[in-house]
Amino acid sequence: MCGGVTLGKGKSGMKEEKLKELLKNMSLKDKAGQLVQLTGNCFTTADAETGPAADLGIPQDMVYRTGSILNVVGADKLKEVQDQYLEKNPPKIPMLFMADVINGFRTIMPIPLGQGCSFDPELVQEAAQVAAKEASSAGVQVTFSPMVDLVRDARWGRVMESTGEDPCLNSAMGLAMVRGYQGEGLDQPGTVASCVKHFAVYGAPEAGRDYNLVDMSEKRLREEYLPAYETAIKEGGAAMVMTSFNSLNGIPATGNSWLMQDLLRKEWGFEGTLITDYAAIFELLNHGVVKDKREASAMAMKCGVDIDMVTDCYANELEKLVQDGVISREALDEAVYRVLKLKNDLGLFENPIRYADKQLEEKLCCCEEHRTVSRKLAQESCVLLKNKGILPLKKAGQKVALMGALADSQEICGAWSLFYKPEEVVTLKQGMEAKAPLCSTSWGCDMLDAWPKWISFANTEFCGREDQSDSIQEAVQKAKEADVVVMTLGELAQQTGEGTSRGNLELADCQKQLFDAVYQVNPHIVVVLFTGRPLDIRYIDGRAEAILVAWQPGTEGGNAIADLLYGDAEPSGKLSMSFPYCTGQEPVYYAHYRTGRPATRGVKQRFCSSYQDIPNEPLYPFGYGLGYTTFEISVPEVDKAEFAAGDSLQVNATVKNTGDRAGCEVVQLYVKDCVSSTERPVKELKGFERVELKPGESRKVSFTLSEKDFAFFRVDGTWGMEAGEFELYVGSDSDTENKIQVCCRN
Ligand code: BGC
Repeated sequence: MCGGVTLGKGKSGMKEEKLKELLKNMSLKDKAGQLVQLTGNCFTTADAETGPAADLGIPQDMVYRTGSILNVVGADKLKEVQDQYLEKNPPKIPMLFMADVINGFRTIMPIPLGQGCSFDPELVQEAAQVAAKEASSAGVQVTFSPMVDLVRDARWGRVMESTGEDPCLNSAMGLAMVRGYQGEGLDQPGTVASCVKHFAVYGAPEAGRDYNLVDMSEKRLREEYLPAYETAIKEGGAAMVMTSFNSLNGIPATGNSWLMQDLLRKEWGFEGTLITDYAAIFELLNHGVVKDKREASAMAMKCGVDIDMVTDCYANELEKLVQDGVISREALDEAVYRVLKLKNDLGLFENPIRYADKQLEEKLCCCEEHRTVSRKLAQESCVLLKNKGILPLKKAGQKVALMGALADSQEICGAWSLFYKPEEVVTLKQGMEAKAPLCSTSWGCDMLDAWPKWISFANTEFCGREDQSDSIQEAVQKAKEADVVVMTLGELAQQTGEGTSRGNLELADCQKQLFDAVYQVNPHIVVVLFTGRPLDIRYIDGRAEAILVAWQPGTEGGNAIADLLYGDAEPSGKLSMSFPYCTGQEPVYYAHYRTGRPATRGVKQRFCSSYQDIPNEPLYPFGYGLGYTTFEISVPEVDKAEFAAGDSLQVNATVKNTGDRAGCEVVQLYVKDCVSSTERPVKELKGFERVELKPGESRKVSFTLSEKDFAFFRVDGTWGMEAGEFELYVGSDSDTENKIQVCCRN
């Protein structure tokens, strides 16, 4: 049951032999078509001589052989497009409908970076399940999610799409999302196939500049960047994988046979469908590794790339490549079979529109049950960075002025929310007013004036207003009349996501001006930071009395933030990505390497690995976040001080709520390998648990470590653990020094 609706029974696909029979009877052109993906507008104007497909150079006879379609949603629309298509498609094979359902479909969840801060994979799985139910009722069959790219450089605009800087957290969250989308199997109702992206290491572009190269040792790849993809694919059983735009060690991912063949297919045994990122086959030309589209298509096909997203490469080149013997018929058949198999697994041959159903869509989308999940996840995603006792706010006897450009905005759903309705979003003003009256709401200033004017975005008025002094003055007047100011700062959704790398992570000048002007008349400022990435917040950090990072919190954002501000919910989020001291520190992450000249915190010393002008430590580290109560975590204990490789090791600690409010602590376990054959990070997260406790209550938390938690890429290129000393830390953030030493004997 969901939203009061029973979703009905699953479908079972046709037998393998029948599928192979179908493949055998397809023409070469039919087969090539299955490997092409086009956007929806190619179908709505399909009969025209001109139009998007023609612009792409794709002939009409190929349009109606196209195997899949991008970002067309809505049960009725989908049915219409599929019906029309099937009338004209010679082998009568239904088209696959894929879409970017990233943090929710109609009910929008917090952006993935925020979801990471919940440290709550169960809830993240539920949120993905909600998205799958809504999306599948609107016809979506495959979602391009999760993005499990590990991210450590906040200059990159797409950090918002990842669950953060840590391999263990990222793997847990990616797995949760795949399980949420795919449920008990793709033959079950309310599911969508999950596409893990962007394979691989798109999250580490040099200098944080989108689409830039990645140059990385195999050691770092395997220890830090690959685990989340591997987990989502092998443990989660994700049906699809998407190649990435970047090159890796000089070879573009989409033409990288080590990545796609040796690692993905052979080593990991991935048998699902592999799709390119948008136009990535064509971009092989821009990378300069092929001279034309024919070579680009051949290169991608040889890597086992099945679907070409929105270019004319496969559409126009594949048949000839096969006829000329450059690509074998077997290779083509294998790729087509993988696409057909996915269609079959989804039950499309029995029902080409699957669970698309207008009535179901209307009932499910943004229903109360789904909004409740969104509200809970938004509460858990927000991170309280500081609080000098000003929070929680009082519902009576306190005059609260709310201000800033996002105070009453519905644009708080993140850059990838393509299918939501803004009118369904609860603004912060609405959320706060549902708790207690506000004494005023003012605009303050827009958020864009530091935004480079030379970037123009289609359909977006993107330049900040030149002179904001009147609106700032108005905010100052309102602040004078209030006891407390709640000020929204940060960045807009459009300033985050693809193509939005930044060279400066500071707040826009107009936001600084607003803060300064208001601070002079009323220093009791609570900052609510809406953002898609960690920012340099030094400007306000020393002066704001509280800072709550709300990310882009989604449909129930206003309610969730108000719940936290007024203490109807306890802040429990922990940073999934470190907040830098300043931009020049990026990339900054807790699991850094030791170096031969490690710096000592707080000690200024030349000739060690440090900066002259800034600290090494981020302003707020990974795993950090406050609540309204306090916790104490005991020194960890182990069930055996010595263990052998192959043994499991239990680590226990007691966490106690030492404050006078109920609350939730995320207890985190980190491991340090003291001496190893290659250099290792100072510590690495290996487990975490959310623990809810009443005032005065304590609970024992236990983690079980096994050989895989100590394994790494050894100096001889093998994967495994080495005997020796380890330090095990249990604490409330990555800075913890609360530890015990254990020894692994040979
Ligand atoms: C993005 C992908 C996305 C695809 C389809 C690309 O530009 O990099 O993440 O899934 O477009 O919309």
